[in-house]
Amino acid sequence: MIIKSAEFKCSNPRVDMCPQTDLPEYAFIGRSNVGKSSLINMLTERNKLAMTSSTPGKTMLINHFLINKEWYLVDLPGYGYAQRGKKEMEKLWNLISHYVLDREQLTCLFVLIDIRHEPQKKDLEFFTFLGENGVPFSIVFTKADKQSNSKNSLNVQRYLDVLKEQWEELPPYFVTSSTARKGRDELLEYIEQINKSL
Ligand code: GTP
Ligand code: MG
Repeated sequence: MIIKSAEFKCSNPRVDMCPQTDLPEYAFIGRSNVGKSSLINMLTERNKLAMTSSTPGKTMLINHFLINKEWYLVDLPGYGYAQRGKKEMEKLWNLISHYVLDREQLTCLFVLIDIRHEPQKKDLEFFTFLGENGVPFSIVFTKADKQSNSKNSLNVQRYLDVLKEQWEELPPYFVTSSTARKGRDELLEYIEQINKSL
């Protein structure tokens, strides 16, 4: 897919304030600092479209980016960033969970996982939450440039093995790097196929 246009549309603190259109949405979610905003910039080839930071907790609102005037990429706050305090974490969890459960335009949810790490409790709990609520998702492994391909393959396999203990069917998954532009074609192709099928 060729990205002809990518525009920031709006940032919202509540789901009911998000754009009232029936355009399909593809959202990125995952722990703070996993690379959600960077992935949006990589996919759109616009370095400063989504705000990124090496300090976790940068994205605090639901951000809509209109792509090719046909569909949205959505950047969400990270989950599980304890430094913010309990109240703030609850607020963010409310925002994320409402978006995931109530946003009818949500067409595919991509859960981002740092490829370097062992399966983390917070992520596994999030998968369980999605499963319990019947929300389909795909997995995007991020930061593949940070270690060797063989280590990446090993970690992905280990991750899938853990998922197999809980799930009969494994979700589609992608291995990406925003700095090395890895996985861009595969992800855009996947989105294009879904858009065509709608
Ligand atoms: P929050 O909005 O805080 O939840 O974080 P986020 O998930 O949006 O992460 P963000 O895109 O802001 O990236 C966090 C840090 O990781 C930044 O310093 C990025 O430069 C870095 N980063 C993101 N993706 C990659 C990647 O593929 N490779 C490398 N080497 N660094 C990355
Ligand atoms: Mg972000």
